[in-house]
Amino acid sequence: MAKSRAQFICQNCGTVFSRWNGKCDSCGQWNTLIEENTASGIGASPGAGKRKGHAIGLVPLSGEIEEAPRISTGIEELDRVTGGGFVRGAAILIGGDPGIGKSTLLTQASATYSRAGHDVVYVSGEEAVGQIRLRAQRLGVADTKVLLAAETNVENILTTLDMGKPPALLIIDSIQTLWTATAESAPGSVTQVRASVQAMIRYAKKTGTAVILVGHVTKDGQIAGPRVVEHMVDAVLYFEGERGHHFRILRTVKNRFGPTDEIGVFEMTGKGLQEISNPSELFLNERAISSPGAAVFAGLEGTRPVLVEIQALVVPSPLGTPRRAVVGWDTARLSMVLAVLEAHCGIRLGSHDVYLNVAGGYRISEPAGDLAVAAALISSLSGNALPQRSVYFGEVSLSGAVRAVAQTEMRIKEASKLGFTSATKPVSAEKQKLVPADFNVSEIDELAELAANIVGSQYQQNELDGNN
Ligand code: TYD
Ligand code: MG
Repeated sequence: MAKSRAQFICQNCGTVFSRWNGKCDSCGQWNTLIEENTASGIGASPGAGKRKGHAIGLVPLSGEIEEAPRISTGIEELDRVTGGGFVRGAAILIGGDPGIGKSTLLTQASATYSRAGHDVVYVSGEEAVGQIRLRAQRLGVADTKVLLAAETNVENILTTLDMGKPPALLIIDSIQTLWTATAESAPGSVTQVRASVQAMIRYAKKTGTAVILVGHVTKDGQIAGPRVVEHMVDAVLYFEGERGHHFRILRTVKNRFGPTDEIGVFEMTGKGLQEISNPSELFLNERAISSPGAAVFAGLEGTRPVLVEIQALVVPSPLGTPRRAVVGWDTARLSMVLAVLEAHCGIRLGSHDVYLNVAGGYRISEPAGDLAVAAALISSLSGNALPQRSVYFGEVSLSGAVRAVAQTEMRIKEASKLGFTSATKPVSAEKQKLVPADFNVSEIDELAELAANIVGSQYQQNELDGNN
């Protein structure tokens, strides 16, 4: 018989050690090595254990799919992000900061699901049944047939579910409160979260119930239980928003059954989350009319164009090391644009504080935002406001060249739809057919041209044209 051998497995990265250590040498995490007894499995000696499995039957790939694989959530923005609704038997993780609105979103989704005639079970480990009812009343969905439970033990939840017909949708709020008797550590610990989530995923696969797992994100931006859950589930969505703003953005990080570049935009109101089907209007709402330092970026999120205002403020700095403060954009990317402006356009910002803000709590992740940021910076420094009805997009390279980006037509169409009349963009080989006749496109090769346009005399001409 094979000798059973103790192994120590890092719960964070999965590396196997033969001895216990306080720190994992592989990923550097402390206190993550747990003893696991493995006579077979990872690192087992060759031939360990006789085969005891039973035959499982192989099927052809080209077989029939039995039932409609997804159910629409009834909330358009949520459908867009998930790729048309929750897939049966899928496990979906929704992460976000505490208080961002995860429970609110899921209460609303369970109500629409239930109204469409599907069974929904909502299990909360954070709130009492009374509190959930109170929220449902506030959201105006208290009359639906959603079943509630306030429970944290996995075995209790699964035993209860096994007594009836599996629901179409099961919501677990949140994974950090779940615990299972099969794991010994405290609730909220990596081992507990992992074991509990595994049990819930098994339930999803076995019954075809779509299981939504809510997870709180820790301060460093990770879901507690360092990423152990992300790779186990079928889809990972993050619900984000800036403090002090009402807008909430649902973003896909991983999706085995749909797109990963779509966003859903919501507004948190006194009566729950409202869908925003045209985010550009919302992000441009706060627009200050023609003040220096404001540029409109024509961006793209998945298949949807999004126009958003970028605000820059450049002021002489009293400090030895000037301040760089960024909201909604990448700090490293800002440093790069500043360096290119200095090296290739002769615009020195080394003794200036630079503040950059993306309006409405939106976050730009596309490199195409470079050109709009550069325009806002130059405009603020020079004190020249940019032409009012103009948008900017393009990637800036380290050589100072402006590089082409995808989906030019779509960006221009959206800009034109919202009343903009001109765009500054990279030179692109393909000719745009769909540019409206009264829309003025100016193509630039180098960032220096943009600087000259804004600072130099050419700019005033543009402005005159724009004002007529
Ligand atoms: P919640 O969904 O409980 O957040 P999470 O589950 O992500 O921790 O939302 C909490 C916040 O949302 C809270 O600050 C109150 C606010 N809120 C509204 O503004 N309007 C509403 O209708 C509801 C239900 C909540
Ligand atoms: Mg909650």
